[in-house]
Amino acid sequence: MSYNLLKGKRGIIFGALDPNSIAWKTAERVHEEGGTFVLTNAPIAMRMGQINDLAEKTGSQIIPADATSLEDLENLVTKAQEILGGKLDFVLHSIGMSINVRKGRAYTDQKYDWTQKGTDVSAMSFHKVMQTLYKQDAMNEWGSIVALTYMAAQRVFPDYNDMADNKAYLESIARSFGYFYGKEKNVRVNTISQSPTPTTAGQGVKGFDGFIAYAEKMSPLGNATAQDCADYTITLFSDLTKRVTMQNLYNDGGFSNTGVSNEVMEAFMKAEGHE
Ligand SMILES: NC(=O)c1ccc[n+]([C@@H]2O[C@H](COP(=O)([O-])OP(=O)(O)OC[C@H]3O[C@@H](n4cnc5c(N)ncnc54)[C@H](O)[C@@H]3O)[C@@H](O)[C@H]2O)c1
Repeated sequence: MSYNLLKGKRGIIFGALDPNSIAWKTAERVHEEGGTFVLTNAPIAMRMGQINDLAEKTGSQIIPADATSLEDLENLVTKAQEILGGKLDFVLHSIGMSINVRKGRAYTDQKYDWTQKGTDVSAMSFHKVMQTLYKQDAMNEWGSIVALTYMAAQRVFPDYNDMADNKAYLESIARSFGYFYGKEKNVRVNTISQSPTPTTAGQGVKGFDGFIAYAEKMSPLGNATAQDCADYTITLFSDLTKRVTMQNLYNDGGFSNTGVSNEVMEAFMKAEGHE
């Protein structure tokens, strides 16, 4: 269902890899709500070609950019404004990657070259994106910038590895940049802390099936899906949330405030032999 919430608004959407991606679902929802945008992803991710289907479906152009490269980001922000015909109203940062996670290195045995690369891609890229937008004065007043995060920034989930530290850094950047962007340009910056979601990045985390099943049983409303995340993001891009900024907002069915659920306790007691 469309509410025309984003009619006339322009933006950039990072991170649509395939139809499971949170950014893919968000792009579809933004399109439904009347927004126009440029799609972008790392050049290497483009080779799979699926993003072309999304571009066609939403009438969007694609500009490749490695989010760790200032040169790529400068080109992206300049060209996006040319293509869309003016300054931007919304930006979605939906990017995450850890080589330590991918290669199964334990948190206590990190290869620091990989750690640095993961930090650059997953967290510092958010600063680079915003600094590029800021320096080019590319955002309209009351624009909205959103990045995606996970609750391992606040609590330990052992297999989330160095991504936990990257997410803590990402959330801090949202607050710090949100201050300056708010003061100078009335632009808001928030992170959405999303439930475990079956995407390429999500499924790369060791023990993901257990992770998602446990979260489902712990959350009074169940896990938030990628579609739920897209719906929530639309509200943050709309004019209905103008003074929500510098926040980490949970889209997790209540998981983050639940100590234990009856279902999880019952399963635990059963496993322990207490029927
Ligand atoms: N899936 C989950 O369980 C979950 C939960 C909470 C938060 N998140 C976050 O949501 C965001 C989107 O992930 P997703 O789950 O949709 O997975 P996804 O794999 O579909 O998306 C990750 C994207 O990051 C892109 N990317 C990687 N390196 C890049 C680079 N150098 N430059 C530009 N783009 C690059 C990938 O190409 C991909 O499109 C990530 O920040 C992720 O950490 C995911």
